[in-house]
Amino acid sequence: MKYAILGDIHANFEALDAVLAECERLKVDKFLCIGDIVGYNADPGRCVETVQELDVEVVIKGNHDEQASVDTELIGFNPQAAMAIEWTRNQLSEEQRLWLASLPLRKTLDARVTLVHATLDVPERWGYIFDKFTAAACMNYQFTALCFFGHTHVPLAFSKFGDVSGGRYDELKIEPGHKYLINVGSVGQPRDGDPRAAFVMYDPDDRMVRLHRVEYDIQACQEKIREAGLPERLAQRLAAGR
Ligand SMILES: [Fe+2]
Repeated sequence: MKYAILGDIHANFEALDAVLAECERLKVDKFLCIGDIVGYNADPGRCVETVQELDVEVVIKGNHDEQASVDTELIGFNPQAAMAIEWTRNQLSEEQRLWLASLPLRKTLDARVTLVHATLDVPERWGYIFDKFTAAACMNYQFTALCFFGHTHVPLAFSKFGDVSGGRYDELKIEPGHKYLINVGSVGQPRDGDPRAAFVMYDPDDRMVRLHRVEYDIQACQEKIREAGLPERLAQRLAAGR
């Protein structure tokens, strides 16, 4: 069984489409989505539709999904993100907003895998995991060998065997007795300096987790952002991967 884990798609249809083509080439069996399907970029409705049409076993709610699904005042978002959320609210159908609102904040897939957008301890606070200390705090609430998460848009992996250690990764062999907390990177707005779309493949049979990067038509996505009147910075950051 080959799983593809997609995170932080952020309404970037060009990136999602390129990732799905690569998943087809790699013969992915099932998809898992760890949230933030919408926000920042200009194709929220189309990305929601595309995820709904996939054979997705679990879809988790991200902070942008949550904000796009409600009408409350935006607190804690930078002005560009807030503007994009306001715009996104008007782009989605009522059914799509209800569907986003219905998604869980975390979910245990099976005896081995948990999924969350931000952190396991208090997922609705949307905390960020960038170092081994925040990773260790999260792992106290992790009761499966693997947990896939997102939110930072930076693919880092932490492992716990006694102490917690971590950093960048390309592939990981899942060792018995270890616990892993793995950020799958961002499909639609990578922030690790590599502008290519990121996603992870997990194969429980060979116990491997692999990070994949895919080139996509960044220019087409940028043009849509400009046409929509969204902040120019949101277009520029895609090319920089920041
Ligand atoms: Fe995000």
